[in-house]
Amino acid sequence: MKIPQHLAIIMDGNGRWAQKHHRPRVYGHVKGTRVAKKIIQECSRLGVKYLTLYAFSTENWLRPQAEVAFLMQILRRYLKRETQNLIKENIRFTIIGELDRLPSDVVASISSAMEATQHCTGLNLVFAISYGSRQELTQTVKAIAEKVALGHISIDEINEVTIQSNLSTATMPEPDLILRTSGEQRLSNFLLWQAAYSEFYFTEQLWPDFTEADLKDSFENYGSRQRRFGKIAHEHEIALN
Ligand code: IPE
Ligand code: IPE
Ligand code: MG
Repeated sequence: MKIPQHLAIIMDGNGRWAQKHHRPRVYGHVKGTRVAKKIIQECSRLGVKYLTLYAFSTENWLRPQAEVAFLMQILRRYLKRETQNLIKENIRFTIIGELDRLPSDVVASISSAMEATQHCTGLNLVFAISYGSRQELTQTVKAIAEKVALGHISIDEINEVTIQSNLSTATMPEPDLILRTSGEQRLSNFLLWQAAYSEFYFTEQLWPDFTEADLKDSFENYGSRQRRFGKIAHEHEIALN
């Protein structure tokens, strides 16, 4: 089994799972959080270096206020209860996303979880919260434009590295594998720049039904892929020479 260095997951299908069980949507989010905890542990155990979890998108702010408030509450509770476990498991916690749209106490809890785990050297756990790739790219353009306006860099010096290093993911490798549950096959504004050469894995499984065994299936499948990055396969290169 090949373990991706950076796995990014679009945890989708909580609402449909709840509906299937004749429960309110928020019940699906509670179950989904439990699954997230298990998958975080399993990734840590298997030696994944970066795990990015899409938990809340910029567009998710448009959901009914009660659902948004519930999701914020889940986040509060997660940070409060899990920080000690993260430290114990040597997991470093960070987030990407538009922090200033979050309630201020949640921002404070995020900051303290990041601070408390910054010495951890195992799994890098990244929550994408209030995250949208277009918003991120817009911020990046502004940051670079400011550097140009201040005369720190010239327009000619702007290249792909300039862009990459001004993204919120600047310190992370690009995702090797992007996994989405619930049968939807789209990015929904997730890591648009970073996904240029990611492998995609879609499963019909709704997120609350996703298991460690499903995760391993996705890694098996990932291991069978040939990543060429626009070049030709290595063995063909040898044959040519
Ligand atoms: C994913 O599940 C969790 C979030 C987006 C917060 P959904 O809530 O999108 O579930 P479905 O897609 O409606 O089933
Ligand atoms: C994407 O799921 C965002 C998260 C999983 C957090 P959505 O359910 O919001 O995406 P769409 O609306 O189906 O594209
Ligand atoms: Mg959804």
